Amino acid sequence: MRRKVSVVGAGKVGSTVAHILALKHMADVVIVNRTVGTAQGIALDIKQSLHIEDSDVNVIGTSDYGQMAGSDIVVVTAGAQRKEGMTRDDLLRVNSDIIGGVADEIKKNAPQSIVIVVTNPLDAMAQLTKARTGFGRERVIGMAGALDSARFGAFIGEELGVSVNDIRPMVLGSHGDSMVAALSTTTVHGTPVAKLIEKEKLSKIVARTRDGGAEIIKLEGSSAYYAPASAAVSMVDAILNDRKRVIPCSVYLEGEYGISGVFAGVPVMLGKGGAEKVVELALPEEERKALADSAAKIKQSMAQLKL
Ligand code: 2OP
Repeated sequence: MRRKVSVVGAGKVGSTVAHILALKHMADVVIVNRTVGTAQGIALDIKQSLHIEDSDVNVIGTSDYGQMAGSDIVVVTAGAQRKEGMTRDDLLRVNSDIIGGVADEIKKNAPQSIVIVVTNPLDAMAQLTKARTGFGRERVIGMAGALDSARFGAFIGEELGVSVNDIRPMVLGSHGDSMVAALSTTTVHGTPVAKLIEKEKLSKIVARTRDGGAEIIKLEGSSAYYAPASAAVSMVDAILNDRKRVIPCSVYLEGEYGISGVFAGVPVMLGKGGAEKVVELALPEEERKALADSAAKIKQSMAQLKL
């Protein structure tokens, strides 16, 4: 049975997700976008690259949500992007209207799918998607920690002059200013990063990670898309190929880390069932508290949605 991934939103993130999925021959791809023509044009362009890329997946673009039928996974990237000086939470109102409608379409057209949410404010949009689809928590997963951790790893690698592939970065909590760089579990060649980078420098790296999205908006004038797309695809890969990889994701917590009733970034084992298990690390008290505080801030910003 051919695997199928639908990508909702044909902006830079969505089209990059579709392109990477096609290049990696991971699944047939359906790009859904409200504006007729946009998704079709992008799909056609990607499709025409596949002979060169030796990939034979099918890629279609559409404005018809019905084409999502039979999707194993739906990646949700639709919505407004923030501009310079905005926080992700500033997008709550405009994007909750959009994501509410998308969630209704997913429930109707792809009721068996696993949903990976990318749209900001991420944790709130993931919670809205779960509420509106009524899917179990294992089937609605927010992409954030994979991105924030990748940024953290990139900066650590730069500082130490080591391969990013020998770093195990871990960023938890909100995809926002209260995100938590879990230094206790971030290692380089197995050594805790705090033993390799002195405190002052490490604090700067943590701050730069926290502002990673804003830094790119300031430089490029638009929100990041290559790293967010790669992060989302790493989650698709772990689920589609049942890899049982532990990746920091935003999931609905039911008491883990002492947190309940809210989406927040924690280490999650991803496999064919989606978010198969929340991995409870023995975090030191200060990191555990920072994670709980971050979750409380998410809950606070969620209150406006009255879910
Ligand atoms: C970022 O941090 C888009 O939220 C995403 O760049």
